[in-house]
Amino acid sequence: MQRIGVFTSGGDAPGMNACVRAAVRVGVERGVEVMGIRRGYAGLLDDEIEPLDRRAVADIVQRGGTVLGTSRSERFRTEEGRAEAREILARHGIEGLVAIGGDGTFKGAHALRGEGGPPVIGVPGTIDNDVAGTDRTLGFDTAVNTAVEAIDRIRDTAASHELVHVIEVMGRHNGRLALASGLAGGAEAVLVPEVAVDLGILASRIDHGFDRGKRFVILVVSEGFEGGGRLVVDELERRLDRDARVTILGHIQRGGSPTAADRILGSRLGAAAADALLDGRADVMIGEVGGELTSTPLETTWTGSVALDERLVSLAARLA
Ligand code: F6P
Repeated sequence: MQRIGVFTSGGDAPGMNACVRAAVRVGVERGVEVMGIRRGYAGLLDDEIEPLDRRAVADIVQRGGTVLGTSRSERFRTEEGRAEAREILARHGIEGLVAIGGDGTFKGAHALRGEGGPPVIGVPGTIDNDVAGTDRTLGFDTAVNTAVEAIDRIRDTAASHELVHVIEVMGRHNGRLALASGLAGGAEAVLVPEVAVDLGILASRIDHGFDRGKRFVILVVSEGFEGGGRLVVDELERRLDRDARVTILGHIQRGGSPTAADRILGSRLGAAAADALLDGRADVMIGEVGGELTSTPLETTWTGSVALDERLVSLAARLA
């Protein structure tokens, strides 16, 4: 292999830049040309491809977002779109790809490979941590810390006004981001799509808490929980004779400088992905499980289990 491409795709995540930097520097170290593909699959289809050298990825390890840009591309979901992409890659002489993104990215990469495209090595980059084959995805640690910082701030005003505060966090259909943020933020309850909750029972539990002298309540709700934070606050206000407030954290969870953990994870996975590609691997994702680098068939990354850690679910309930 003489030339490989690297791109970021789907929702951006802190740590992606550390990953891009490592993939480029390992490629250069091993004597191949590395092409940066801008804006994920949309940029590939618009032929936004440029060579990257060591210097091109200097001073980015600490930066949030992705210097390559990213996108969600409907065109690439079509066979015609992927055929166009294969032609563009061939025209650039790109013989392999490092794809940094989530399950949607990997589905596209797997289809591209299956239709005659170049070998692809995936790196899990999404704040949702909803990819099988790795303990954590790039950006998850930073997003949890961003959410916890926000929860701590809301705790101050909840205490001052003696109110019920509902904080909605991201995670798409997975509750891992909410569970980690709620545990670390000391929430009275964490509401996730994977666990059914009777809001009537929750309301009476909150009532009893105030009767026992609790001065305020913090609830963390995953955006994937039925109706999200707005529904929960409406339901609780209907049942409790006290005001409640909702804060939707939204896209602040996607930004910010990556934590050291995400920088290290991004560096490890990016380097290992470039090595795997140049060692002849294909159609797998590089992850980290129990501190060890792992390789998982791309298809398993979206068909495998991304269940919540039951130990954390029961701990959150015990400590509430
Ligand atoms: O997949 C990452 C994520 O932030 C999800 O948690 C969230 O539901 C989604 O992206 C939001 O998508 P967009 O940035 O396109 O609004």
